[in-house]
Amino acid sequence: MNLIVRPILPRFGAEVSGIDLTKPLDAETREAVLAAQSRWGVTMWRDTGLTDETHIAFSRQFGHLELAPAPSGKPYRHAHRELFDASNLDASGTISTNELVRLHNRGNQIWHTDASFMPVRTELSLLLCHEAPAAGGETWFADMRAAYEDLPRSTQERIAGLRARHSLWWSRKRGGFPLTDEEVDARGYAVHPLVHVHRRSGRQALYLSGHARDIEGLPRAQGEALLAELTAFATQPQYVFSVSYAPGDLVIWDDLCTMHRGGEFDELHHRRDMRRTSVREGGSAEASADQFTDLYRAAGVDLHKPRR
Ligand code: OGA
Ligand code: MN
Repeated sequence: MNLIVRPILPRFGAEVSGIDLTKPLDAETREAVLAAQSRWGVTMWRDTGLTDETHIAFSRQFGHLELAPAPSGKPYRHAHRELFDASNLDASGTISTNELVRLHNRGNQIWHTDASFMPVRTELSLLLCHEAPAAGGETWFADMRAAYEDLPRSTQERIAGLRARHSLWWSRKRGGFPLTDEEVDARGYAVHPLVHVHRRSGRQALYLSGHARDIEGLPRAQGEALLAELTAFATQPQYVFSVSYAPGDLVIWDDLCTMHRGGEFDELHHRRDMRRTSVREGGSAEASADQFTDLYRAAGVDLHKPRR
């Protein structure tokens, strides 16, 4: 095993090569991949040769994989429920003209961490490029450990012990999806500390997300302002970089110490086919095996039926 690691920023992000991701990893190689992941937060693997099946098999070596929400009334684009669809394509593989789907996906262009709206979150996200647009469509990443460490001491003290309330529907509303504040509130929140210890590295990290609506126990406007202030701090140029894709490129990020957002592109004219697996935090069995479908069902959201 000969893992080659090229840092992207001095403290954050690395391009990694030297191993074949299409074959099962031995224990030592798996540990080396996890060690690189913990240290750098984001790892980029070029030209992996991964297919849907080997993407899933590779991901599964790191824990329990979430199932993407099963849409009702329309065929799912992928044969495997472990693949979350981050493309702009519909089930037949052509560029989607469904306005609701487009507005729903827009939320991914806001800085966020995956599944912060779940009580049991996503720890690792593994996003594989199948088709990239000619221009734009990159993904941006932000370093939530360095950002926390660089915060003024007074801010660290001010936010210690605070918890944010997260909702998928809040980030969808921010992206333009038609929802009222009342509808977002009625669907409930997952609550997570604003600062936590990143277990794998032992470093402290901000845990922010575009899904974060407000701060428990603070007036809403004050909570919103604090979230905006921390997000602006953590996404300054020294904490962020972007990656561009060619088919076969895989990027892996640790959602417990990073934020990310999709880059803009001409989504009505250019195809972008990205597929993601999500490794559940802590390998927990306590959450429902199909918690994303449950979330959409409970909210009564069906992207493929017109809203009344
Ligand atoms: C995701 C996501 C952004 C992108 O898949 O979780 O936010 O660039 N993707 O596709
Ligand atoms: Mn995401």
